[in-house]
Amino acid sequence: MTEVPSVTTLKKPLFVQLHDTHSADPRAELSAGLLASMPAIPPKYFYDALGSRLFDAITELPEYYPTRTEAQILGSHGAEIATAVGTGRTLVDLGAGNCEKAGRLFATLQPRRYVAVDISVEFLRHALACLQREHMAMDMVGVGVDFSQSLQLPAEVGAAPRTLFYPGSSIGNFTPADAQAFLQRAREASPGGNLLIGVDLVKAKPVLDAAYDDALGVTAAFNLNTLAHVNRLLGSNFALRQWRHVAFFDEARSRIEMHLEAREAVTVRWPGGERRFAAGEHIHTENSCKYTVESFDALLRRAGYLHTRC
Ligand code: AVJ
Repeated sequence: MTEVPSVTTLKKPLFVQLHDTHSADPRAELSAGLLASMPAIPPKYFYDALGSRLFDAITELPEYYPTRTEAQILGSHGAEIATAVGTGRTLVDLGAGNCEKAGRLFATLQPRRYVAVDISVEFLRHALACLQREHMAMDMVGVGVDFSQSLQLPAEVGAAPRTLFYPGSSIGNFTPADAQAFLQRAREASPGGNLLIGVDLVKAKPVLDAAYDDALGVTAAFNLNTLAHVNRLLGSNFALRQWRHVAFFDEARSRIEMHLEAREAVTVRWPGGERRFAAGEHIHTENSCKYTVESFDALLRRAGYLHTRC
């Protein structure tokens, strides 16, 4: 027999946008980064509307193995994962985006409540509304917050035990010291909580180099697009043709570095500032740290996670 829920019991996702005072004004942050002795643009500026689509395209490239590998792992170890993290909890999805990865875990983790966290609730409205139609009985909350700045979630998230879901090796954008501090704050902000995290492992340099410098040039476009995004936010006049994508695995630091290299001498101007770049000078746009099972386990322990499973 099928039960048809009456109209009044149909659930709707709840949305909360937090305006945290910690996060820097983009113009101040970008201009400070460009004027630094080692010029840099933080990786969060990759993700304007086009950048998010280019990232989705990256995940389909033959060279970019992390996304499909993680999907295989989550798909084939569902039962073990459910045993390790428990079922019926509040699933808190950090950097939820299109909510697809978490949605695929619902059948095994059976969350009582799903909390999608991303920098802006606007990114979450459509995805959560679709997911709610498929899972009509589940409580769903969308939270807009820069969780790299603040992990204090609003009261609407509730007090039930939480599973933090942080997939995609996004943790790799932090340096190991910052990753440890972030994971410690995450643990302290969710008492009784646990963490399901996806971390990319170190592998042979040619495999890593190709994953971040693909033959089609999609990663190059993704990296260069950050300059177009910065032009809109800062009012700067970067000419994309004057810059070249550079990505390499630094074995000593166990990280991919992505840079934009000036093809010629360039002077970039924006309201209130300018910087001259010599030919060959770099703007650092991303680190993607790679771990071993042992090195990440040690990092988790330093962050206070004492029961770990891989
Ligand atoms: C989204 C940060 C996990 O580091 O692999 C992909 C971003 N940069 N290709 C990564 C990225 C270039 C990605 N993360």
